[in-house]
Amino acid sequence: MGTMIRTKGLKKIYRVGSEKVVALAGIDLEIEQGEICCIVGQSGSGKSTLLNMLAGLEKPTKGTIAIAGKMVTSMDEERLALFRQENLGFVFQSYNLLPQLTAVENAALPLMFSGMGKAQRERRAMDELSKIGLEDRAAHRPSEMSGGQQQRVGIARAFVPRPKVIFADEPTGNLDTHTTEQVMEAMLDRVAKYGITLVMVTHEPTLAACGDRVVTLSDGKVISNEYRKKPGGGEAESDDKFISNEARKKPGGGEAESDDNDSEEAI
Ligand SMILES: Nc1ncnc2c1ncn2[C@@H]1O[C@H](COP(=O)(O)OP(=O)(O)OP(=O)(O)O)[C@@H](O)[C@H]1O
Ligand SMILES: [Mg+2]
Repeated sequence: MGTMIRTKGLKKIYRVGSEKVVALAGIDLEIEQGEICCIVGQSGSGKSTLLNMLAGLEKPTKGTIAIAGKMVTSMDEERLALFRQENLGFVFQSYNLLPQLTAVENAALPLMFSGMGKAQRERRAMDELSKIGLEDRAAHRPSEMSGGQQQRVGIARAFVPRPKVIFADEPTGNLDTHTTEQVMEAMLDRVAKYGITLVMVTHEPTLAACGDRVVTLSDGKVISNEYRKKPGGGEAESDDKFISNEARKKPGGGEAESDDNDSEEAI
């Protein structure tokens, strides 16, 4: 498995009037193909900004992003749009569904320019909808669905074209506990089955625990990087506790960097 996403020195500075807001203060991150990478951190720490940069929805102020070996940050708008269409999927917290289309039509939308026939596109969309318990809402328009149901249509839509990477910002933010479990299970199943790399922002520790890694942001910086299982194996099969990156590098501890200390309890 190779590297799917690599960022170097990623910075985002917003100007608001005469003030500068440093949303990302230099992020170096590598995410492997097929990895489930969870991004956590306090409100305002830069999670959505990072996701939007990675997904090519916003331009960084400084730094580079490569995805699947392609330098995304050097692409012009047209190439970037095509690259996104062919390789990336998104789950937004605001669902961004088209109001005049039904659930199945919304979910099938990313396949519109794929060359696939309508029947096949909708069959694929139907399959994804049923995986997250929405088959009986396929003919409903967004206004005829609950927030959680609309969100699930958004999730189905991201998976329908089987992209290389899916970026999800609080994908289960509007769902109750039971539905969250159901949707997460379906997402993890699809991710594993299609070998999709998933980068997911979440506030919920139980969801973060589903990932291979948890990246914690604070003030636009990565302050900890915790692996649930060691990439490449080699270590005894661990229980469901996270193994901190620092702990893996320095089993004796002692010289962990000072700003990494809030991951210690996870060892
Ligand atoms: N368009 C913008 N213009 C100016 N400042 C912005 C803009 N977008 C984000 N910011 C600022 O950048 C910082 C990071 O914001 P971001 O939305 O990435 O946080 P977050 O970690 O996703 O928070 P939350 O958990 O609340 O969604 C915040 O201080 C925010 O106020
Ligand atoms: Mg956010």
